[in-house]
Amino acid sequence: MTEGSARLSATSSERAELAELIRTPYIRVLTYPKISLRTAKARIRQLERLGVEELVFEGHTRIGRLGILGLGTVGVVVTAITKKGESALKIRRTDANREDMDNEVKMTRLVNRVGIGPEIQSATDDFILMTLIRYEELEEWVRGQKGRGTKLVVASLLHSALNQCRKLDILAVDHGQLNNLRKHLVVADGRPWIIDFESAGTNRRPRNVTSAAQHLFVGGSVSPYLRRLMGIRSLDVVLDGLTAYKREPTDYMYSKLLEHLKLVPNETLRLATGSHRGPRTPSDFSPPKV
Ligand SMILES: Nc1ncnc2c1ncn2[C@@H]1O[C@H](COP(=O)(O)OP(=O)(O)O)[C@@H](O)[C@H]1O
Ligand SMILES: [Mg+2]
Repeated sequence: MTEGSARLSATSSERAELAELIRTPYIRVLTYPKISLRTAKARIRQLERLGVEELVFEGHTRIGRLGILGLGTVGVVVTAITKKGESALKIRRTDANREDMDNEVKMTRLVNRVGIGPEIQSATDDFILMTLIRYEELEEWVRGQKGRGTKLVVASLLHSALNQCRKLDILAVDHGQLNNLRKHLVVADGRPWIIDFESAGTNRRPRNVTSAAQHLFVGGSVSPYLRRLMGIRSLDVVLDGLTAYKREPTDYMYSKLLEHLKLVPNETLRLATGSHRGPRTPSDFSPPKV
């Protein structure tokens, strides 16, 4: 169990069936931020279509007394129960700057095909039903790693996170908010997850790798810690690597960047596997056998 899930289950939770959602306090979540009975009724019909049976109000963020998983500018996210079990339900805020969730659904489905993001199960104009991720923030996870092997475990996770960014760059999908990495690159069960594709788009130059790497190693609050942990002495070398990748976002420049970030397996291992391209598996980071 992750620390995140332990914390979540430690908080009190409350459940409500669909018919109860027209009442306070539940209606406040369903039509946040402004109560509307008419909207609530229309939304309950959408929830029936999605096969949602109950909502579970749990999590550290609160709307009144009810716990929720999170609150953004577009959505309120809660736990939902369907026949298949638990999911995360993103509810469009009634004051969101868009009429539906179409772009987010389209972008998330696109990246789901390459194994990125919470998987969308189904969606309507006002809801997205997707995999529930009981996550920890990346910085919290990084700082929680202790003892022997920490460097390898962290390197492996960061490598895998940047590989996801690289895949997005290749797909030409720009997430759009990876400069605010704290909220969008999270960790669950030891693997990285990129969440919230509401600002994602395909008609601009993708900056996923550069935004994430810049936050992790150059400018973000976790960057001094990560530079020390990975043994990066020269910031200039990292910056040059970022500039080179930005100018020429090729596999080669990406692999050079990983080298500058000390995220590639050591030289001996690299020569032994004979590869310097493409994603490596976490097992490449296993300590060399002696
Ligand atoms: N699939 C999910 N599993 C668990 N929590 C989630 C999930 N998606 C979003 N959240 C939580 O809800 C918050 C708001 O969701 P987000 O998609 O960022 O909304 P917005 O588009 O309004 O910014 C997130 O910061 C996160 O804490
Ligand atoms: Mg968000």
